[in-house]
Amino acid sequence: MRIGMEILTEIPDSFRKPAVDLFLDSLGEKIVPAMGKRSRAEALLMDSLRGEACFLAVEGSNLLGMIGLNTSEKVFVQAGLRDFVKQVGLFRSLWTLPILGTMEHPIAADEIYIEMIAVSPNARGKGVGHALLGRAEERGMALNKARLTLQVVDTNPRAKKLYEELGYSTTKTYNTYPWGRLVGWSFKKVDYMEKALAPASV
Ligand SMILES: CC(C)(COP(=O)(O)OP(=O)(O)OC[C@H]1O[C@@H](n2cnc3c(N)ncnc32)[C@H](O)[C@@H]1OP(=O)(O)O)[C@@H](O)C(=O)NCCC(=O)NCCS
Repeated sequence: MRIGMEILTEIPDSFRKPAVDLFLDSLGEKIVPAMGKRSRAEALLMDSLRGEACFLAVEGSNLLGMIGLNTSEKVFVQAGLRDFVKQVGLFRSLWTLPILGTMEHPIAADEIYIEMIAVSPNARGKGVGHALLGRAEERGMALNKARLTLQVVDTNPRAKKLYEELGYSTTKTYNTYPWGRLVGWSFKKVDYMEKALAPASV
């Protein structure tokens, strides 16, 4: 763990905009082209990120990274259909939502799902991602979940390698090509990965 790094279990107001920026800078490819403008995705996320469903890694006033977690009880991005339509309009929603929906993951009662993880580019390769994934495991065990799950796209082999090193294995692969092209996705396949969690000791 980096010296001076602190893990927060909420999103203080001063970190909300940096958290949204990190989300969109790192993973915006999945939603910004579909929404048409980055400002729409920003507006949606500013209102909908839930601090109690994430961990932030910070160093002083710098945001180093974050991980967002979904369970059947609580989700990280608390935005519904109505919020999406409000930002992009009905017409765009009608053709983009069915495609975006292919990456939606219904959460089973026994799982904790990594909705997103991102580390700021100048803090990568220094253990921040490991620290955040470790917290996710601890939270899963504390909630008595049996498995930690995630999705990773085929254009991100380094992230997949990191997950494999940490004991995740691929349980399913599905195609997003060619329809994903319509919403700007450059990836063609997505892997579901999961890791079994040891039960919490009593
Ligand atoms: C994937 C990510 C969260 C890893 O965080 P990190 O803090 O760099 O990870 P750590 O330092 O704990 O571990 C480093 C390992 O991460 C992997 N890695 C993935 N992308 C990396 C990157 N851009 N730079 C450095 N390491 C990266 C490597 O396997 C590396 O292992 P190595 O040291 O054996 O090469 C980070 O690179 C990132 O934010 N990437 C962009 C967003 C993203 O792809 N999120 C995952 C979506 S599924």
